[in-house]
Amino acid sequence: MRWLVTGGAGYIGAHVVTALGGSGIESVVIDDLSTGHAERLPAGVPLVRADVRDGVVLGELFRRHRFDGVIHLAARKDVAESTAHPLRYYEENLDGLRSVLDAVATSGTPSVLFSSSAAVYGTPPRSPVGELDITTPENAYGRTKLIGEWMLRDAAASAGFRWCALRYFNVAGAGAPHLRDHGGTNLVPRLLQAAAAGRPATVYGTDYPTADGTAVRDYVHVADIADAHVRAALALHHGEIHDEVLNIGRGEGASVLQMIDAVAAALGHPLPYSAAPRRAGDPAEVVASPARIRHLLGWQARYDLDDIVRSAAADHGTTGAATATALHTGQKSRNKLKNTQR
Ligand SMILES: NC(=O)c1ccc[n+]([C@@H]2O[C@H](COP(=O)([O-])OP(=O)(O)OC[C@H]3O[C@@H](n4cnc5c(N)ncnc54)[C@H](O)[C@@H]3O)[C@@H](O)[C@H]2O)c1
Repeated sequence: MRWLVTGGAGYIGAHVVTALGGSGIESVVIDDLSTGHAERLPAGVPLVRADVRDGVVLGELFRRHRFDGVIHLAARKDVAESTAHPLRYYEENLDGLRSVLDAVATSGTPSVLFSSSAAVYGTPPRSPVGELDITTPENAYGRTKLIGEWMLRDAAASAGFRWCALRYFNVAGAGAPHLRDHGGTNLVPRLLQAAAAGRPATVYGTDYPTADGTAVRDYVHVADIADAHVRAALALHHGEIHDEVLNIGRGEGASVLQMIDAVAAALGHPLPYSAAPRRAGDPAEVVASPARIRHLLGWQARYDLDDIVRSAAADHGTTGAATATALHTGQKSRNKLKNTQR
């Protein structure tokens, strides 16, 4: 079997390519390396360095290979950037998907897996949130993912391919140090980068209606995410699923302050932090119900929060305690936050 993986040199994409290889599935990667790194790819995996919106390159690629399916990960993913530059997100994320679906339809490729996101839920009506719950994304990034799911559904109904949208919750950790997340947008790399630079981590929002006042998310190990892709790709290939939307999360929430504790434990020293106002488009609590993916694909997370944080911290160059002043560092300040700022 051979699958095209768009964005395969990215953080999640490289884990997916590695996991596919481990299951005997060949990958061809298309990536413009705008945020990806070619060194992440296993030896022997072909990389086409191009923008997925380049229909000529895509058309040629689909003519040269007969792909059994496409895993479409290539996208921009920074919520704050999407709020500042919404049209850039609509253009890059949706035109990229349109271009890929066009090539899929023209070539008669039978299966598509799409990187969707928990951002489609916005503030979920309940916790944990299920796939049939209402979707009310609160930022342009989340809206591009929800519209992407609609595009898939419409294109599949017309062209006849099988598809599955995987709604990742908060992806973190690393399967190996060279595969880790270099980005500065997701929480765990942000905390590690702050520790490495000896500066305080910033906590956006300490007045949420959550137990300690900080935002709660469902962190899931990237190796578990990659495993879900292999299972979904095989299920699509064998016709066991066809038009499907699946959450991928552990079904357990952790607050920002709990994550700071977990990172501090992994590093072996306290991690100072400073409080900042909430960011626009950041809901209070988003936790997955992973019941459907467990039922359909037999998937369930193998890694817990400690595994996630320790794997992300490994070889991260984080040494020595940060030395910021006038900062919160421990349980005491946590309790204070809880009592005074909710
Ligand atoms: N990281 C998360 O927590 C998370 C959560 C939910 C959904 N997602 C989605 O998962 C996907 C992968 O995210 P990631 O964390 O690996 O991000 P990433 O930035 O590391 O990976 C994206 C990859 O796509 C490539 N790319 C971007 N635009 C492209 C284009 N137009 N043409 C070709 N290549 C392009 C980049 O160079 C990069 O290698 C994205 O679609 C993202 O929205 C991520």
